[in-house]
Amino acid sequence: MGTRLPLLEDLPDVAGKKVLLRADFNVPVATAPDGSQTITDDYRITSTLPTIEWLRSHGADVTVCTHLGRPEGRPDPAFSLDPVRARLEELAPGVRLLENLRFSPGEEANDPAFVDMLVEGQDLYVNDAFAVSHRAHASVVGPPARLPSAAGRLLAREAEVLSGLLDAPERPFVAIVGGAKIGDKLGVLRALSAKVDVLVVGGGMSYTFFKALGHEVGASLLDERHLASCAELLAGDVEVLLPLDVVALAPGSHIHRGQPAPDGERTEVYGRDIPDGWEAADIGPETRRRYAEVIATARTVLWNGPMGAFEDERLSAGTRAVAEAVAACPGFTVAGGGDSVAAINSYGLADRIDHVSSGGGASLELIELGDLPGLAALRAASNAPRA
Ligand code: 3PG
Repeated sequence: MGTRLPLLEDLPDVAGKKVLLRADFNVPVATAPDGSQTITDDYRITSTLPTIEWLRSHGADVTVCTHLGRPEGRPDPAFSLDPVRARLEELAPGVRLLENLRFSPGEEANDPAFVDMLVEGQDLYVNDAFAVSHRAHASVVGPPARLPSAAGRLLAREAEVLSGLLDAPERPFVAIVGGAKIGDKLGVLRALSAKVDVLVVGGGMSYTFFKALGHEVGASLLDERHLASCAELLAGDVEVLLPLDVVALAPGSHIHRGQPAPDGERTEVYGRDIPDGWEAADIGPETRRRYAEVIATARTVLWNGPMGAFEDERLSAGTRAVAEAVAACPGFTVAGGGDSVAAINSYGLADRIDHVSSGGGASLELIELGDLPGLAALRAASNAPRA
């Protein structure tokens, strides 16, 4: 018999104890021309508050640690935690925040000496950093081997929803997978093809599937290395839906993220054969209708990855249509991945989706591999209960 994820209630009495809380406060930060930095979305901070509040209301003294960005093992003012510290002080006054973990090379190297430093003076450890729990970094996997440990509320909910979804989904189970790079999504597509009833594909990765079917894709994204894998998925048992039509940019036109396209740039709707020089960058109207119909019949939906370059208004209809269909679906709906979540938030649909995952890479890896280093480390903690 194995162990299960220890929860906050599985910690020894926290009253008067020092607790190290690993959070993922890797928030988007905008830098103004005068150098001042502001957080543009504090969701990753607010979503950890229930854990902080539980610990403090039970008498614990909380120190939070997090990474921000990828500073490569040395201090870098571009990844200063100052804006995060200021916001945390507003939301949870008195909670301490350590320096950006990735300012030290020991974090990513999982150096035992760095773990020693992190746990020094601490009595207990809590991991609420679901979004980084696929990394075997020191602050994620080290402390549970040294201190009684627990999953925070956010991490526990993520693990419960994503694992439950794959173990016993209500059917039909429809997964919609989008995004630009087929290479990043093949593992998850394979894992999902063994679990779902329908696999709906969109985004830049679709065009490698088109090519595998013998279509011409013009100037659209294509990764020839994965043609055979796409063909294999299409020949498998699960129903794979590919776009029926696309919105393509005319030769010489470009994707304009977050700003209007210059006059004269044209887009056109094509079927699966895309003319020379044209770049498909969204699903077309017929596909939007078809995908919405399929999503409407689902009892379980998992969505990861946009249908096109949605930050460009001309190429946003596909992602918006899928977001709206997922929001309207009466079944249990889960969305993950930075871009899909950004789209959901920008359309104001987050409240209508049952679970919006805080983890991009982490949610994909949990679906693909069934476990994460951070979760395994917690289950191996000395206080983890028998399953
Ligand atoms: C994320 O934003 O997905 C997590 O914070 C992990 O960040 P990383 O990809 O830099 O490890």
